[in-house]
Amino acid sequence: LILTVTLNAALDVTYRLGEVHWDQVNRVEQVSTRAGGKGVNVARVLHALGVDSTVTGLVGGATGDAIRADLAAAGLNDQMVGIAGESRRTVVIVHPRGATVFNEPGAHVSASEWAAFVDRFGELLAGCAAVVLSGSVPPGIPREAYAVLLRMATDAGVQGVLDAQGEALMAGLAGRPAIVKPNQLELGAAVGRPCGSMEDLLAAAGLLRSGGAGAVVVTRGADGLVASTPDGNWTAAAPESVAGNATGAGDAVAAALAVGLLRAQPWPERLVEAVAMGAAAVVGSLAGDIDLASYRGFRAAVHLRRL
Ligand SMILES: Nc1ncnc2c1ncn2[C@@H]1O[C@H](COP(=O)(O)OP(=O)(O)OP(=O)(O)O)[C@@H](O)[C@H]1O
Ligand SMILES: [Mg+2]
Repeated sequence: LILTVTLNAALDVTYRLGEVHWDQVNRVEQVSTRAGGKGVNVARVLHALGVDSTVTGLVGGATGDAIRADLAAAGLNDQMVGIAGESRRTVVIVHPRGATVFNEPGAHVSASEWAAFVDRFGELLAGCAAVVLSGSVPPGIPREAYAVLLRMATDAGVQGVLDAQGEALMAGLAGRPAIVKPNQLELGAAVGRPCGSMEDLLAAAGLLRSGGAGAVVVTRGADGLVASTPDGNWTAAAPESVAGNATGAGDAVAAALAVGLLRAQPWPERLVEAVAMGAAAVVGSLAGDIDLASYRGFRAAVHLRRL
């Protein structure tokens, strides 16, 4: 069983328009809403793979109810914890030139709500093999939140994957996650210098490992990923760039890495799975969707290289 944590769960609202006129009235042609937040996307991918998962995090208000209804509709095991505040929405405007995203900050979480979540998290760890902690930390929650949760997981014998950025990532390292999964930009921002070359990238990954991460998997969009692990360093990529919606590709990678922990796969196998899953998520239309037929095809085609 894999537990996914989305502290800042959201209702993702997608507007599709033929054209956007800024500073004018626009007619939205199509609206779709669904439960989102990175950990929810991870759980969707696991569900598609037939891997048991439980979704937890914080939700509140009418938007929280809508999130929970959609989790149920998706067949996900919802163990979200309620808060008094209203869950956030994210609005994505999809137009012919691309997509524009507006992310609300999320409701304030009180100290007692956070304490209640920590208790529930402790209960949910029982019976889990891995936990994936993804995304931003809402206002009101202590900056060391991910470190606290990861330490509890480690004490319960549950291995952690951390997909966060900035402070949430750096403070989380103290909880000794088995794997952290920044993208290249997030890694550069975390260590305070750009990671353009392979040398810079491996040096930055080394810093996160000395800070407490067991392994670092850096994703680089169509260029695939670079892994710095106790067993060695690798690069892996799909044979060519895949066209589609790359939002959520990183979440698909996080899902694959968690399955790798669950199954104790050797690193080369794990990385091939991660790249195939990331590419299959680009083919899948919405964040959290993977195209299973493409996934199977990509697995055989991934270029893996030991550094
Ligand atoms: N256009 C693409 N073609 C092929 N593979 C891709 C493409 N985009 C992403 N991938 C695969 O998916 C992985 C994750 O993508 P990316 O680096 O964009 O993650 P991310 O920035 O964390 O995304 P998000 O946070 O939106 O989920 C990459 O390492 C790569 O293996
Ligand atoms: Mg990401």
